[in-house]
Amino acid sequence: MKAPVRVAVTGAAGQISYSLLFRIAAGQMLGEDQPVILQLLEITPALGALEGVAMELDDCAFPLLAGIVQTDDPNVAFKDADYALLVGARPRGPGMERKDLLEANAAIFSVQGKAINDNASPDIKVLVVGNPANTNALIAQRNAPNINPRQFTAMTRLDHNRAMTQLAQKTGTTINDVKKMTIWGNHSSTQYPDLHHATVNGKTAIDMVDQAWYEGTYIPEVQQRGAAIIKARGASSAASAANAAIAHMRSWALGTAEGDWVSMGVYSDGSYGIAEGLIYSYPCVCKNGDWEIVQGLEVNDFSRDRMAATEQELAEERDAVSHLLP
Ligand code: NAD
Ligand code: LMR
Repeated sequence: MKAPVRVAVTGAAGQISYSLLFRIAAGQMLGEDQPVILQLLEITPALGALEGVAMELDDCAFPLLAGIVQTDDPNVAFKDADYALLVGARPRGPGMERKDLLEANAAIFSVQGKAINDNASPDIKVLVVGNPANTNALIAQRNAPNINPRQFTAMTRLDHNRAMTQLAQKTGTTINDVKKMTIWGNHSSTQYPDLHHATVNGKTAIDMVDQAWYEGTYIPEVQQRGAAIIKARGASSAASAANAAIAHMRSWALGTAEGDWVSMGVYSDGSYGIAEGLIYSYPCVCKNGDWEIVQGLEVNDFSRDRMAATEQELAEERDAVSHLLP
């Protein structure tokens, strides 16, 4: 058996975590040979509810669960952490855009970025789920100057999965037939799901659908799916978000499949002309615990406009939180 790794999860008594923690402890994120110590962070008033979650984790008798830490102190939660899933943040309600949460949530991520900087393993892998995820990841990253910025990522895997399923349903196939999906940009209603490189059974997806459906139905449905879930469920996506978080971390830690890639919000190095330093969703391959942006994809004018629009929104979000970016 391997030595246990430390996995910090914030918002651990919230609805996403209620789906997430049990799957991490079951080995679905880091592998069935990898014991984990869960380091769970909550705000003080939620520590009672967190105790209940920890009791249930105990009651599962997970062979891989090597310990549970419960705390309201970020310095304790991130101590020696190898992985961090930053979920704790307010979710939006009906009629809100995710960036409306910026004011309520941004401060959380500057505090946690500092605590990661001061306490975590220098090799920590961070995934930000709390919205607006890309800009919260940027805030955390900029408050952790001693950690390589590549180690801070934001979740667009849920959008990626949504885009795969909508395409499979339209083409009468299954998600097993769909490869090379790409979400560019922000986890927001400006994100750009790109079918020019995606394939269905080896054929280019954009050639299998008509442009009117792509522009008028597919793109807006993927962009608005989070809002549609809120409308239908009366609460934001939880199990599917947890599933995407598991998949994001698993790909990063254990690698992506040969001949395929995944979408991840990562630190832009200027690839595809996107401003350096933004946390922008790109197609990525992962290997040996590291990610690389897929290079050399052709970008036509249609795609370029949409990639620029979502970049513009990220630049505006960054400027709106400049007081939190040292
Ligand atoms: P929730 O309200 O059920 O849970 C959030 C939890 O975070 C609460 O228990 C709260 O007490 C805790 N919390 C708040 N501030 C905290 C802090 N400073 N430190 C630690 N914990 C803190 O919300 P949820 O449904 O679990 O969603 C959490 C976040 O994830 C929301 O911002 C939501 O919009 C976002 N989300 C993102 C995606 C994505 O694809 N990136 C998908 C779904 C949801
Ligand atoms: C989602 O995409 O489901 C989440 O980001 C929740 C939301 O606010 O849409």
